[in-house]
Amino acid sequence: MAKYTQKELASLGLTPMLPKHVGIIMDGNGRWAKQRMLPRTLGHRAAMDKLRGTIRLTSDLNIEALSLYAFSTENWSRPEEEVSALFDLLVEYFTRELDELHKNGVCIRILGDISAFPSAVREAVTRAHVKTRENTGLKLNIALNYGSRAELVRAAQSLCESALRGELRPKEIDEAALFDRLYTYGLPELDLVIRTGGEKRLSNFMLLQAAYAELYFTDTYWPDFSEKKYIEALKEYQLRDRRYGTVK
Ligand code: FPP
Repeated sequence: MAKYTQKELASLGLTPMLPKHVGIIMDGNGRWAKQRMLPRTLGHRAAMDKLRGTIRLTSDLNIEALSLYAFSTENWSRPEEEVSALFDLLVEYFTRELDELHKNGVCIRILGDISAFPSAVREAVTRAHVKTRENTGLKLNIALNYGSRAELVRAAQSLCESALRGELRPKEIDEAALFDRLYTYGLPELDLVIRTGGEKRLSNFMLLQAAYAELYFTDTYWPDFSEKKYIEALKEYQLRDRRYGTVK
């Protein structure tokens, strides 16, 4: 993928001070479908079709990492046919898009515990991860059966196990040791979290990683979140004064 030059960025109204890591809570698919008197599952399909442009633009802008909230630990409580349609879409997506993503150097990582997913989903996402894991382009993280609290519990268990094996004394547990045990180990913290669909909350999405992230909320439903709207969010990010608790 061709990366934007500084001049091209300027023509989009952007400076090179872009976020290193963007997270997106893709909300509003059901309401987008309802507005059009379509079944909710068609909202999710339109959502999936939106990913290509979002990923391409993120990569072209040379942003290091993009994390997408695709299935939360709470999403299991949706009607069975909706959950099953989301699983089918995941298989379709990772099968249909894999070659293109690979060709563009995208490195796919799954955030979350996919062991409870049907084998077809596990196989499709694992294949995508294995095929692309050495790629050096955009780090694309898909949160699946992900919840920040569950992620923290898992990290705490891993720290306890290390301590019990004598590899680490409780006093030596610091932020770095904890962050190394999150699904996002090795990635920069989130600089920007975008939530579409009108709600203004994080809903258990990467709470620790978003500690200093700028939050951008828009009423636009995810299937309507165009590249132009993504650029608007990035422009707004560039206007924010990031102080990290200090005085400037
Ligand atoms: C929230 O909208 C969205 C989801 C629970 C699923 C997101 C799924 C996708 C974007 C498609 C598949 C993803 C991949 C990676 C292929 P909602 O259903 O809660 O919308 P509503 O609030 O309007 O009901």
